[in-house]
Amino acid sequence: MKNILIIFVTLLFSASAFAGVNSKKIQMVQHLRVVWHEDPAHEAYIMWTTDKYKIKSYLYYDTVPRNGDLKKYRFKNNAKTKPILYTLDVRHKAKLKKLKPDTMYYFTAVTNGKKSKEYHFKTAPVDKNKTFKILFGGDSRSDRAQRIEMNKLMSKMFQEDPNILALCHGGDYIANGLSWKQWKAWLEDHYHTATKDGRMLPIIPTRGNHELASPLFNDVFARPGGIFKRNYFRTRIAELSILTMNTNISHSGAQKRWLKKTLKKAKKDSKWIVANYHRPAWPGVKKPGRAKKHWVPLFEKYQIDMAFESDGHVLKRTVPIYKNKEDPVKGIVYVGEGGLGVKMRGPKDRWYLRGSGYNESKHHVMALEVSPKQMTYTVELPDRKIFDKMVLKRRRR
Ligand SMILES: [Fe+2]
Repeated sequence: MKNILIIFVTLLFSASAFAGVNSKKIQMVQHLRVVWHEDPAHEAYIMWTTDKYKIKSYLYYDTVPRNGDLKKYRFKNNAKTKPILYTLDVRHKAKLKKLKPDTMYYFTAVTNGKKSKEYHFKTAPVDKNKTFKILFGGDSRSDRAQRIEMNKLMSKMFQEDPNILALCHGGDYIANGLSWKQWKAWLEDHYHTATKDGRMLPIIPTRGNHELASPLFNDVFARPGGIFKRNYFRTRIAELSILTMNTNISHSGAQKRWLKKTLKKAKKDSKWIVANYHRPAWPGVKKPGRAKKHWVPLFEKYQIDMAFESDGHVLKRTVPIYKNKEDPVKGIVYVGEGGLGVKMRGPKDRWYLRGSGYNESKHHVMALEVSPKQMTYTVELPDRKIFDKMVLKRRRR
């Protein structure tokens, strides 16, 4: 009986799915987004969704606005299409290469003749004297109304400060990483981060535990880190290196070797080094993740500037920590814990969150301003109050 029921439900699903394919004409271009991996001064992924697999899909782009007049765009890129697993939707991916640094690019996506509105984004600078800002935050998985409010807050910040370049999202985008329905809602909500005139906030993606080992994370964000490095990678923006890591796989082995090698490189070519990953080494709520054992000794050896953590649903900042103690000279400050659209948790009392540290139950967006002489870290709350500000000077490495 149970087997018959399963077959019946499967047939029902297949039949309605098939009806879905045939009854609709192609959808509009949906979920347009800009994704950054290693080299955002010269490369970017523009991605979107439609239905239907066998289709022609292009990205038209230029360094001046063309308002969707396709004949006028100087560049055209064939987008790669791929069916999204277990769904009737198709993912489109245009990889833009050889872009000019610090340049605004205007683009329109076209799939089977249906075109999107024109959006734009700015590539990262390579000029070491340029001042820019990156937003940081995580955990947007389970309170959609709050997520939209936080996205609108980011849009206001972005609108007011053109130095903002991208959002480094620390993971746990959605509650169930295997649910395309939830990914679609997240991608729809991401439009709220854009400015009124259509400047998009590129995403630097991090895998969280709610993304599990889901292949949809790689479908949505173009497999950051490439085929062999499983979602860990370095993003270089002028003198800043952001080392994004994956706390859902082994923290030792290949990832740890990569971290060591990359820290060595970053020490030579970057004035500023920050780490970014989901599960905290110095948590405000839960127990420490494996980052504490495997990565913290390397952070300390190579004297990174700070680390961004998510997952706890609080707002925290640690005292500067070195070898398990507060150390104002060699210590590293760990910030974050995720508040972009989740119910916040009750903060715990921990030695490293007292004094100059704190642990609060507050939604928040963090911003890191990088200038030639210093980095300035700020935390903004939904009421636009600046809750925290910290200036970091160049470290001896
Ligand atoms: Fe998490």
